[in-house]
Amino acid sequence: MDVSGRTVVVTGGASGIGRALCLAFAERGAAGIVVADLDGRGAEQVAAEAAALGCRSVAVTADMAREADVRALAGRAEAEFGRIDLFCSNAGVIVGGGVEVPDEAWARIWAINVQSHIYVARAVLPAMLARDDGHLLITASAAGLLTQLGSAPYAVTKHAAVALAEWLSITHGASGIGVSCLCPQAVTTNLGSTSLRAMDGSTAPSGANGGTVSRQASVDGVLAPEQVAACVIEGLAAGRFLILPHQEVATYERRRADDRERWLAGMRRLQARITGGG
Ligand SMILES: NC(=O)c1ccc[n+]([C@@H]2O[C@H](COP(=O)([O-])OP(=O)(O)OC[C@H]3O[C@@H](n4cnc5c(N)ncnc54)[C@H](O)[C@@H]3O)[C@@H](O)[C@H]2O)c1
Repeated sequence: MDVSGRTVVVTGGASGIGRALCLAFAERGAAGIVVADLDGRGAEQVAAEAAALGCRSVAVTADMAREADVRALAGRAEAEFGRIDLFCSNAGVIVGGGVEVPDEAWARIWAINVQSHIYVARAVLPAMLARDDGHLLITASAAGLLTQLGSAPYAVTKHAAVALAEWLSITHGASGIGVSCLCPQAVTTNLGSTSLRAMDGSTAPSGANGGTVSRQASVDGVLAPEQVAACVIEGLAAGRFLILPHQEVATYERRRADDRERWLAGMRRLQARITGGG
């Protein structure tokens, strides 16, 4: 999809990758952008930045973990711009820890990192299918293809997000619906601080801290959100399902599939190196 002349919704649009997507779409002549985020004030700032680039833009405060908010967001976008051509379901959070993470935190990260994409598909697919046209971009992570050392909830929910994106592509790909799945490794964003706030469901501004990056993900280099957005523009134009800003991820995924035992042993060694345990 070429975003020029198209109407776009970006969730998690107030910060990081979502913000960079909004501005890249505005620069490339999108007809309208809806910037959605828990952080309503941050969304308004990004909408103003996109408007300054000449793109009609509106901000919506929404908790993507709540289906009523997702439905209202889709309704607002359609009311404002007539249709949604591209929906970027990008909002996500991370929480550290393993199976000891309390059920409430598992439920919240599941709701944000997985269920939100289901709510989005429910809300926007009927109109897209009726037109035989539309595109859904789901931001998962390289953690959804490989794993996330130190965070079982992130690894599990991002794998589920990839599985959902694949299922949607297989099921609706022949009906004019494009699906893309964005799987970066480390990107300099505010994920650490915004996750703490989003896990509480707070709509207060994040007091963004300029970027936290996991040591595992940063092994292959840390990208700026603008570099990720450029990959998305290119991936959408090429109609690609898997968008990999870090190309190494394709190799790792192949190695994992070729020899799972060897891949697991390698990940154990990497974990020991990172935690200083060997
Ligand atoms: N930063 C990385 O290294 C990295 C790597 C791979 C994937 N990702 C994924 O990229 C996506 C964007 O994250 P980012 O890195 O740009 O972080 P970020 O913190 O800069 O931006 C995330 C935005 O999502 C919003 N958000 C969180 N929960 C929400 C909710 N329930 N409803 C609405 N908005 C909500 C936050 O308020 C924040 O503005 C996430 O899905 C994340 O998992 C990030």
